[in-house]
Amino acid sequence: MTAIELPYDRSVAEATDPIFERVAHVIPRVEWPLHAPYVAAINRLKRERNAVILAHNYQVPEIFFTVADIVGDSLALAMQAAKTDAAVIVLCGVHFMAETAKLVNPEKTVLVPDLQAGCSLADSITAADVRLLRQRYPGVPVVTYVNTSAEVKAESDVCVTSGNAVHIVEALGVPKVIFLPDEYLAKYVASKTSVEIVAWKGHCEVHERFSGADMRHFRAGDPNLVILAHPECPPDVLAEADFVGSTQGMSEYVGTLAEPHRHARVLLMTECSMADNVAGAYPSVEFVRPCNLCPHMKRNTLPKVLHALQAMEFEVTIDPAVADRARAAVTRMLEFGRQPRD
Ligand code: 13P
Ligand code: SF4
Repeated sequence: MTAIELPYDRSVAEATDPIFERVAHVIPRVEWPLHAPYVAAINRLKRERNAVILAHNYQVPEIFFTVADIVGDSLALAMQAAKTDAAVIVLCGVHFMAETAKLVNPEKTVLVPDLQAGCSLADSITAADVRLLRQRYPGVPVVTYVNTSAEVKAESDVCVTSGNAVHIVEALGVPKVIFLPDEYLAKYVASKTSVEIVAWKGHCEVHERFSGADMRHFRAGDPNLVILAHPECPPDVLAEADFVGSTQGMSEYVGTLAEPHRHARVLLMTECSMADNVAGAYPSVEFVRPCNLCPHMKRNTLPKVLHALQAMEFEVTIDPAVADRARAAVTRMLEFGRQPRD
């Protein structure tokens, strides 16, 4: 199915013209007739199916601003998934996010627009790896980044996201934890706590490509540049950043710059759609645009979201043999909530 197959007629224009204003900062008017028929059809079908669309901050603006009901970082999506009354959840993100939504809503239908939307971190570790680590470090709690499969979560004591990892590691009150699978997030957490961290060598294929040299290059050109980095970036990047946080944390930090310094120039060391989406909320902030694309997040498109709602596929299911244990690790994380602000 291509965008051309749905007509842009008068009724579509009337239904979607007000919505266009939300994406006018990134989508040229001339392109809107390609998106608008999908936006109208998705929003109509969402009501008929009693469905809710959750979209991660890395989704393209035409999904993020026009059809999503809830947007946010991994933690916000997990929290909101646990609260929704809708019968159907369409998760526009990557597979582990949809699995998390299914874990906290076992009775609901959870759909993804593309089953191939994976994650290099989730692919970096298996449940068998975690069992071996437990044998090697008996009695040491396993703290698992939410960017993992349900099978890996099932072998874990508690999950974390980049929005609460330091908080949860500290709150466990133990001298040592096994922290999986992101090596750079583990190093970042280790730099913020006295808890000893046993790490794994998983990396995000998007964030590992940034370097401290990139940042020095941009700073040399603009000493007032404010640099924000996701903690999946390598340590030399985090050392140079003015702020390190989850995608939601970065968005909120930009908000603190927007008012007093109306001409802030900001560089987000993260996925490309972040700047497009944050720019919608803070039009006075100028974004310097080098970024890296996540090929998994970019598998989601408006035609695929429409297909998901029309065909009620692709449904995310979780092996009953792991679901209860994986749910316990996620539920424990949700009880901790978000990291309190410093
Ligand atoms: P956040 O939890 O910060 O949204 O990050 C998820 C992710 O996959 C970053 O690459
Ligand atoms: Fe996974 Fe990295 Fe893509 Fe996030 S940006 S989903 S960590 S591959």
